[in-house]
This record gives sequence, C-alpha cells and structure tokens, in this order.
Amino acid sequence: MKGVILAGGSGTRLRPMTKIINKHLLPVGPFPMIHYAVSKMAAAGIKDIMLVTGKQSAGLFMEYIGSGSGWGVRLTYKIQEEAGGIAQALELADGFIQPQDKFVVLLGDNLFEDGLESAVRMFAEAEQGNAMVFLKKVADPRRYGVPEMRGDRIAAIEEKPAYPKSDYCVTGIYMYDSNVFDKIQEIQASERGELEITDVNNRYAAQGMLTYRLLEGWWTDAGTHRSLLEASIRLSASDVL
Ligand code: G1P
Repeated sequence: MKGVILAGGSGTRLRPMTKIINKHLLPVGPFPMIHYAVSKMAAAGIKDIMLVTGKQSAGLFMEYIGSGSGWGVRLTYKIQEEAGGIAQALELADGFIQPQDKFVVLLGDNLFEDGLESAVRMFAEAEQGNAMVFLKKVADPRRYGVPEMRGDRIAAIEEKPAYPKSDYCVTGIYMYDSNVFDKIQEIQASERGELEITDVNNRYAAQGMLTYRLLEGWWTDAGTHRSLLEASIRLSASDVL
C-alpha cells in the first residue's frame, strides 16, 4: 500500500504562529508535528508516501524529511496552491496513486497511539471499492465528523452536527483505493467553501461500502492550542516514536 499525508490548510485556529509557519511544523514533544505521520506510515510498512502541503514552509518540510531515507521510505512532494479542503488536497494524489493501488491517508495534525499495521494488512486484502475510516470515542463530537453506525458499516457521517448521533468522531485516518478520485469529482464545495472529505466518505456510506475500525489508544487532532499542548504532553512522555 501507498500513503498520502495531508499537511496543508491555513491553521487558523493556531494563529498567530501559523502566520509564519505551517501548523504541521510546530513542535509536539521533541519533534515537529509532521514527524509522527511519517513514522506511523513507516512503522506500518508503507514505503511510498506523498506529502501534500501549501507553499508556505514547503522548503522546511523538505529540509526535515528530505527523501524519507531516514525513515526507510520514499517521499514525493506535491503543492496545494490554496487551501480548499481535505478532499481537494487528496485529489492531488491522483496519478501518484495508480488504478490498482490501495492507500492510507493521514491528516498530519492527527496524533495517536495505535499502530496501523493490522488495519493496513486487512484493508490490502479487502474487496476493491470499499473505504475504511478510523473512529474514536470523544467527549465533544460536535467538533468533528460524527458517524452513524449500522453493524460493521457506517450509514452516514454528519460534519460538525449540533446534535451528534453517536459519541464517536471520524478521525483523520482513512483507507481508500483509486475509486476515491471518481467520488471527489462528484462532490461540490461546502458552505465553508471547501471540498469536504465527509462528503466523499458519505458517497461510500450511501453504497454500504464504508467500513470502520475503532482506535484503542489515545487520539488527538492537534489543531487548537489546547489540543496541541495535550499532544505535546503525551508525546513528551512517550518513547514509542
Ligand atoms: C476534519 C474532518 C472531520 C474530522 C476531523 C478529524 O475536520 O472534516 O470530519 O473529524 O478532520 O481531525 P477539520 O479539521 O477540517 O475541521
């Protein structure tokens, strides 16, 4: 399987630091945030990784990760000219992902404890055309995409709902095959002017083809000052990576 790390966005909730540097380069424990996504992929045996980021700080990503040889992986870089949503960033991986490929997508600000090895193995063997998302039980689901589960499938996801239908959030860890690029073509920009990954996932859900796994360890989306601090504390104490 291949990997795609999405590390763009404007980092509005982490201003003012993100006025001068991309969010994914901010320190979390001993490393810049982006370190963890690359490490997670490498640990899961993923060797070919595309990193999608904006123009701001692009050179710094290359300076830190380089060719990826420090992790035993091969890095390819792609520039997203303007922040236009997660699905728009993902679309840039079309071409890097070949028709027969399956791949893992990580949002670079999602920091978590679980390893991806077993899920990667399982998805590699799963029927073509399915997608898989990782869920985590959270105290404040209204901040996230919230799934409505039906057996081993997701029936639908609501993005930042006022009245969440479950206590789970859809994390920024996804698995797809190249069919995802057709689904991205089918969606329209949301009210916030972005191509939403939730709309893409809902296309799979409507066809009964969206499966899920629950994360067992801690998980955080380090997109706010508080969650960044929490992630820093966890990862300073951890000698896993
Ligand atoms: C995005 C997704 C949301 C998901 C979250 C996880 O939200 O749209 O469904 O729960 O990532 O980190 P955003 O960070 O763009 O608000």
